[in-house]
Amino acid sequence: MNNYDVIVIGGGPMGLATATELSNSNKQILLIEQYNFINQKGSSAGLSRQFRVQYTQKYMAQLALDSIDHWKRLQITTTDVLVNPVGSLWFGDPALSSQEGGIKAAMDVMDELKIPYQPLSASEIEQKFPFKDLPEDYIGFFQKDGGIIDLKATQEALLNICSVVSNVSLMENALVTNIQSLPNGEIIVAVDGQNYTTTKLVITPGAYINDILKYFGLSVDIDIWEVSSAYYKKTDAIKLPTWFVFQKPQNTSMFYGFPEVEWANPGYIRVAPDIPDRIIKDPTQRYSGPSEKSLKLNETWVRDHMVGLLPKSEFTSTCLIALSNNGKELLLDFLPDSVANNKNIIVYTGGWAAKFVPLLGRILSDLALEGTTTYDISNFKINYTPINQH
Ligand code: BEZ
Repeated sequence: MNNYDVIVIGGGPMGLATATELSNSNKQILLIEQYNFINQKGSSAGLSRQFRVQYTQKYMAQLALDSIDHWKRLQITTTDVLVNPVGSLWFGDPALSSQEGGIKAAMDVMDELKIPYQPLSASEIEQKFPFKDLPEDYIGFFQKDGGIIDLKATQEALLNICSVVSNVSLMENALVTNIQSLPNGEIIVAVDGQNYTTTKLVITPGAYINDILKYFGLSVDIDIWEVSSAYYKKTDAIKLPTWFVFQKPQNTSMFYGFPEVEWANPGYIRVAPDIPDRIIKDPTQRYSGPSEKSLKLNETWVRDHMVGLLPKSEFTSTCLIALSNNGKELLLDFLPDSVANNKNIIVYTGGWAAKFVPLLGRILSDLALEGTTTYDISNFKINYTPINQH
């Protein structure tokens, strides 16, 4: 079969979630992935991610709240725990903000949305959680609905649904080699030289976005963060929620971490710097391994401020995160008016977005099937650049 109602390009978490949502319709869907499904080559590399509802922007906090029901619906389909609600602890320098928000501004938004949280002083944080020697003026809060996302199990649950339904065709190790959007409404996607036709296209290739946009004569100027992460051996029976510390200087002192989980290096706890090893423009520019500098910073934080962990980096990894370079939290839009059928072609690329996976699947599916969504995506518009203007 070469003719589909919707073709989805990019089979990471967002593409899988989109195909899963679309499978509830009577449409025929083709999902194309250039590598194998659940690979380690993009933004979803590694096992764990953080779920949280606190944000400095009300619209982001609302989206996070909205995503909870979508996680619950996906959870019903698997016995793996997809989001373990261990809570989310934010602490640090009260004056600071970052890509991940700021402490005081997030508390204001939680007040406005009536999201419960417990404010904490530095000494209360040290009493309740395994941190030590924090500057006295640090403040923080604990929010109980945050947690740890099992990203591999999430993708497995989605892939499982896509594999058992009759209206999703899965194609992996399949490279898109051309796309034509014709004035008669037809969109032709060539995969390894073979043509597939559709009238709706959803593009979710994460950091690989420009490999696809080039077929429309477009690109998007994203920053791709190459980030390192490591695990540290437990030496005490410590218990952690997911956590994030905001400190100065931001380019060497922002860290985050997770509780121990049995599905990712049991006996060890993951701590990671929220600092790019490098910022690249294309995935082909990536290094193969973690940065010594980032891991040293991480070890120093673990040694100086964490209790019950051996400050020696193990099970190290890197991940690519596609991010907007003009402060937008997510990048989600139709193609521009210069492209034929642009309102039938939807793009999702960057953002710290694992916490929104099932919801973004729903939004992308809504946009493909209805041309609109009830969720507020007005803040995520993409600035496309014609390729010949570079
Ligand atoms: C987040 O919650 O968005 C996040 C957490 C840790 C690192 C980066 C982002």
